[in-house]
Order: sequence, then structure tokens, then C-alpha cells
Amino acid sequence: MSRAYKIALLPGDGTGPEVIREGVKVLGAAANKNNFKLEFVNYDLGGARYLKTGEVLPESMIEEFKKFDAMYLGAIGHPDVKPGILEKGILLKLRFELDQYINLRPVKLYPNVETPLKNKKSSDIDMVIVRENTEGLYAGAGGFLRKNTPYEVATQESINTRFGVERCIRYAFEFAKKRAKNNKLTLCGKTNVLTYASDLWQRTFNDIAKEYSQIKGDYANVDAICMWFIKNPEWFDVVVTDNLFGDIITDLAAMIQGGIGVAAGGNINPEGVSMFEPMGGSAPKYTGQNVINPIAAINAGTMMLDTLGEIEAAKDIDNAVIKALESGKIKSMSAGKMGLSTTEVGDLIASYI
Ligand code: IPM
Ligand code: MN
Repeated sequence: MSRAYKIALLPGDGTGPEVIREGVKVLGAAANKNNFKLEFVNYDLGGARYLKTGEVLPESMIEEFKKFDAMYLGAIGHPDVKPGILEKGILLKLRFELDQYINLRPVKLYPNVETPLKNKKSSDIDMVIVRENTEGLYAGAGGFLRKNTPYEVATQESINTRFGVERCIRYAFEFAKKRAKNNKLTLCGKTNVLTYASDLWQRTFNDIAKEYSQIKGDYANVDAICMWFIKNPEWFDVVVTDNLFGDIITDLAAMIQGGIGVAAGGNINPEGVSMFEPMGGSAPKYTGQNVINPIAAINAGTMMLDTLGEIEAAKDIDNAVIKALESGKIKSMSAGKMGLSTTEVGDLIASYI
């Protein structure tokens, strides 16, 4: 009997459905070639649903998602919904409730993709960032005192547990070992100021490093890493960091790999159900025009297959993306400037599988 995977599809808002459509097309081609099946079930989460029904994310849906093999998300965000409602109510809630404690972000410069970094080639920009995805400043700890008075106090605490930090760092060491590129893992923190939180990270990192003699452990402060990602991206192999630092440095990294048109990420629960998404938002101004770049969503699909253990199929998609880019037919990574439509880019990549 052939293998089959159940995938929850969350196309979401704006251009989300357009890029997910192309992702599903390419995933289907890779599944066919490698003799397995993908069964998609659609969920209409997002701003449109919220504006219509007032519902952000029904509790029962979270239980349903636990029965899937993976989740494939387009974009969440609607111009008519106040910032924070959908982000916290859908994206962060799913990460927390499904314990997707790793945010995995490969940063790779593909051929014919323009980087803003002068004199840097594909071989210089090839790293993976492992971001803790359930703790830190995202934990929601804090509150207001005397709100809306001149004496207002707002606190927002960074929660770092030994358990949460350790499982993230352990994942990163295992990842660096499996990746076997430069066998280097850089911890990104701020030990010179955050003498409690970063200290816990550093001690945990040092403890676990003892179990990985083949991996060279390194450390960089987050502000310095922002400089070095620009000046010397070739220094990095795998980088591990906390939730907020990770949020910031992965956007920086997305730009050096050619922008959000290509950058993909995974919200991973290694013991449960993981969710894959393009880094770009819902891009309301391009909605419905068939001009948005679907490559990030397609790359998210590659990560999904990789996590499901369909390594060959994942490689097929990655190679197809490389061939499509090498063909020179895609003129730019930016929406509206590709020289091809969203559909045509999807077709082109699917044709190389
Ligand atoms: C990301 C996004 C989210 C985050 C937002 C939308 C809540 O920026 O996935 O990096 O901050 O984690
Ligand atoms: Mn972000």
C-alpha cells in the first residue's frame, strides 16, 4: 500500500490562497513521482472568517489539527482587523497549543536570486536559524498597572525555562550534526546585559555541547550577529536563539537570501504536528492579481516533506526550484516583477519534477 499523509491546509488571508494553490500543485507533482499520497483538508481561518463570524480560532479545531500529519499555512493578516488579534489568536495560539517549540528557518541564496549584499555568492549564504518558538518575550507574561493613567506601569517578562531552552538547544545540536555542513552551532544571545536569561541559555548550551564533540560551539551577541549576517554570512552554519531575537534576525536573514518571496519557515513539534509557512504576509495590495511569488510557499512545502520523512520528494522540489531559477525565466523575486504570473511560476517549477 502506498504512503498517505493528511495535511491541514490553512490558506488564510490576502495572497495566502494564491501561493498555497501553487504549493499544493508542486507538492502533488512530487508526491506522484515518489508514489505517496497527500490528502488535504481545507480550513478557512483568517481575517475574513473573523470579520464574518467573530471567531478567531475555535477550540475544537486545535484538537482536529492534532490528528493531521502536518499543517500548511498561507498567510494570516487582514487590513480591517486590528493588529495582534489574528497574530496572537491564530498563529501564536497554534504554536503554543500544538507545542511547536522550534521555528526553523533555512537561509539559502538560490542561483539567479539577487542579494543586497555586494560580492556574496550562493555558497556564502547558506545557514539555518533555529528559533525557540514557545517561550521568551512571546509567553505573554506581564500586565498593566494603573492603565491609562499618568502612573501607568507595563511589564513584559521574558520566560526562559531550563526545559524549554534545553529542548531547543538539543534540537539545534542534532540539526547541526545531521546537516553536516561546517559542524558549527552559534548561540545568539545578549550575555553582556541579560545576565539571567542569556546566562541560562549559555550554561545550557555549554552543558549540551559536551555531548557533541563533533560540533564546534560558538557564541555571538545578537547586535553583533546583525552586523555579521551582513558582512560575513559565510561564517554561519546553524544558529540557535530565543524567540524575540530569532524573530528579528530571521527577518534580517530573509533579506540577504533575496527577500520574503523565497523565505520559508517551519513551526516544528518534533514529537507532534508541525506547521509550515512562507515568511511573507498576506500582501493585501497584490491580492487576487496572480502576481505574488509562490516560491516561499513552495519552499515551505519542501520543508514539510522533509519533516514527514519524504526526503527524496523534498529534494525533487528543491532541485526543481533551482532549475526554474537557473532557467532565467523568473526575472525577479518581487511581486509583480517576476515576468511570469504566480500560476506560471508554479507550473514552471512543477514541470521540472
Ligand atoms: C513570524 C511573525 C510572527 C512572529 C508574527 C506574525 C506574530 O513575524 O513568524 O516571525 O512574531 O513570530
Ligand atoms: Mn517575524
